Amino acid sequence: MKATAKAHTNIALIKYWGKRNDALILPTNSSLSLTLDGFYTKTSVHFKEELNEDVFELDQEIVTGVAYERVTSYLDLIRSFARTDLHAEVQSTNAVPTAAGFASSASGFAALAAASTKALDLDVTDTDLSRLTRQGSGSACRSIYGGFVEWKEGTRDDGLDSYAVPIAPQEHWDVRVAAVVLTAREKDISSRVGMKRTVDTSVFYQGWLDSVPHDLSEIKDGIQVKDFEKVGSIAEANCLKMHATTLGATPPFTYWHDTTMAVMQTVQGLRADGIPAYFTIDAGPNVKVLYLPEHEEKVQQTLSSTPGVTDVILSRAGSGISYV
Ligand code: DP6
Repeated sequence: MKATAKAHTNIALIKYWGKRNDALILPTNSSLSLTLDGFYTKTSVHFKEELNEDVFELDQEIVTGVAYERVTSYLDLIRSFARTDLHAEVQSTNAVPTAAGFASSASGFAALAAASTKALDLDVTDTDLSRLTRQGSGSACRSIYGGFVEWKEGTRDDGLDSYAVPIAPQEHWDVRVAAVVLTAREKDISSRVGMKRTVDTSVFYQGWLDSVPHDLSEIKDGIQVKDFEKVGSIAEANCLKMHATTLGATPPFTYWHDTTMAVMQTVQGLRADGIPAYFTIDAGPNVKVLYLPEHEEKVQQTLSSTPGVTDVILSRAGSGISYV
């Protein structure tokens, strides 16, 4: 009753930003991401008769508190799905700077869902797995697949039609992503809390919702024909709209630091110099930059020399779930 799975993080090009059902994690809008090979979580789940409670180890350290509660309540969901009351030993290693906007919850819950269903020998399709993963963390449901992936918001109250679908495989297009690290500190406002505050209070929220369907259909066209400028500019604009909603919330907030804005300006400067590069930012201060392989050296050098940048990690398109 043991299995190990590896899942990569993904970076949203069209953001998931808001829930219509908090308990089932059903989104208010569809989203689209690129799975990244550079960042992943590897998780082993071992269900054992002799355990009275779950044990969770992350990077060789026992985890307690909120992070533990999230894992054990997720295992409750898997247990009720599998009709078992066995507890598990969960061991994860993260090749992602945790909670600094690198979506470790995406790779984390995708790996946990895959390893725990495999350990219990459950017969699940990728769609089932995506739906189950969604209930751990929304963005994680996209990490079941490699390449470009859409999470369909669905309309049903029970969430059966809210899951990810592959749009284009990893091999379709060699788009690269530079993850620009400004700080590996834990972020101040989690994506979950920030998202809820925005849905509940932001005067700009409706504008966000109204704009997503067009962005989504345009970016899908751009991905199919590999139009980098189209894909990059839609992703950048979509990110700015998402972040704009936080400024219209009560109380207002932003995930950006001064260096976040400096990096955004660096990227605009690259474009002014004829290098197509576009940024996107999740619920944290760090910036991800999309670029094409031929510009890798210039992009890396320019980003690294921006004051306040501590690291630049380069990544290619990644694969979906794998079992070790
Ligand atoms: C800004 O998936 O972390 O990264 O469903 O509450 O766990 P929960 O939220 P989470 O939110 C991610 C938000 C985002 C955009 C995105 O990845 O689409």
